[in-house]
Amino acid sequence: MTLNFSQTLDPSDSSNSPCVIVGVFTDGGLSPAAARIDSASSGAIKRLLDSSDITAKAGSSALLFALPGIKSERVLIVGLGDKAKFNAAAFNKASLEAGRALKSLPVASAASWLTELDVPGHDSAWKLRTAALAADMHAYRYTATLKPKDKAKAPQLESIAFFGEKDDRALAEAAAMAKGVRFARELGNLPPNICTPEYIAKQASEFADAKKGVSCEVLEREEMEKLGMGSLLGVAKGSVNTPRLVVLRWNGGGEAKPYALVGKGVTFDSGGISLKPGPAMEEMKFDMCGAAGMLGTFVSAVELDLPLNLVCVVAAVENMPDGNSYRPSDVLTSMSGQTIEVLNTDAEGRLILCDALTYVQKFEPQVIIDAATLTGACVVALGKHASGLMTEDEELASELLAAGNHTLDRAWRLPLWDDYQSALDSAFADFTNLGGKYGGAITAGCFLSRFTTGYRWAHLDIAGTAWNEGRKGLATGRPVPLLTQYLIDRCA
Ligand code: BES
Ligand code: MN
Ligand code: ZN
Repeated sequence: MTLNFSQTLDPSDSSNSPCVIVGVFTDGGLSPAAARIDSASSGAIKRLLDSSDITAKAGSSALLFALPGIKSERVLIVGLGDKAKFNAAAFNKASLEAGRALKSLPVASAASWLTELDVPGHDSAWKLRTAALAADMHAYRYTATLKPKDKAKAPQLESIAFFGEKDDRALAEAAAMAKGVRFARELGNLPPNICTPEYIAKQASEFADAKKGVSCEVLEREEMEKLGMGSLLGVAKGSVNTPRLVVLRWNGGGEAKPYALVGKGVTFDSGGISLKPGPAMEEMKFDMCGAAGMLGTFVSAVELDLPLNLVCVVAAVENMPDGNSYRPSDVLTSMSGQTIEVLNTDAEGRLILCDALTYVQKFEPQVIIDAATLTGACVVALGKHASGLMTEDEELASELLAAGNHTLDRAWRLPLWDDYQSALDSAFADFTNLGGKYGGAITAGCFLSRFTTGYRWAHLDIAGTAWNEGRKGLATGRPVPLLTQYLIDRCA
């Protein structure tokens, strides 16, 4: 369950909420709500700032308890940084800090006045959505495999009210995106002995069963064999967790051609016979985050009842070394008929996506978008802040980049020029699954492009953005905000 979001116009100083959240700037400037609380409490906030006990640096916060003259027991002061530089990024940073601070408080609800702040170029719906997603990002906690005593440590926060005129559409969009993000994060975080291809298929079909207007079809190995998906099945050979191709459909747009979402769902990527080195191999449970992101986007879109048609295809496979594994130098025949020389069994994502991309064409989509944790090279190129966007369609590129900028779930474009294609040349098949030494994110994109000829298609490499690395790193739910916004914009 996500947080419950609402809107309020009650003044901050007389709020009944157990915790009110207000912002302060580094030049000593108070937000209107902070100023009200300050005067109602005979200058408590100003005195605190003057004392330098707290700074107003963006991303900082301080909790004041039982201020005289203030109804609310707690006032959470959030630093906003320099007033002259206050922008969308600073607003998001402050909202995230509020969420972080809230999760350790013994409160079930809170009221945030951050949304009254002016954010240049952004309206109140944007502020609500951004602040709500930031709060929910921190309110989520992974508990599925924890002991009951550890489960109990989950944040108590259940609902949060934001200052602003009631706007049902904005609230619905915030709630739907939060729901999609949580769906993606939970699937991503589950361990690979639970989150198998079968499990992903079950989650999708349970969602379809619960939602009117959603249908789900799950293809198993035999059906994929009949369809000639030799590339996807090649990857699947080494695992006892048999593959699934999950197909979800939403018909909200009458006779219009659907938007197709295709996700890489490698539930664990050991590398296969081209085994990965040990360090951080456990992070390869997140190699299904493309699938999780597409399912999460689908959930958001359905939740919003978007008036368009959608088909979501998830290729769910485990990549393992085994006596039955595919191997380097195997030649696979993809569903498209094109043959592929396997030069590295760790370049498996493209091998399962290519058959999913061919399969989805039977729905005559107007646009195909895939998301995949496809290459470490993309993380080297862009770091962990931007997803890599590859497409030859200028309009699609600008629409996706705009949706990413708007939601702060940003992507950055990499070229798909023909110059890179020859890196895939093979003497034994139509091409190989391995590019050269350089431009690995792009050559992976080039590989996929060979399966989408004639379609408006874009590829998102989310290898750097889908999860936070390290022992405590969790799935982020990206690119659900970007793609949900893209779909919302198509309905405008
Ligand atoms: N799932 C990985 C990509 C990956 C690696 C994502 C590290 C995030 C962090 C993918 O299947 C893979 O192994 N890619 C190889 C491709 C190479 C063999 C051409 C890579 O990036 O090293
Ligand atoms: Mn791999
Ligand atoms: Zn992989």
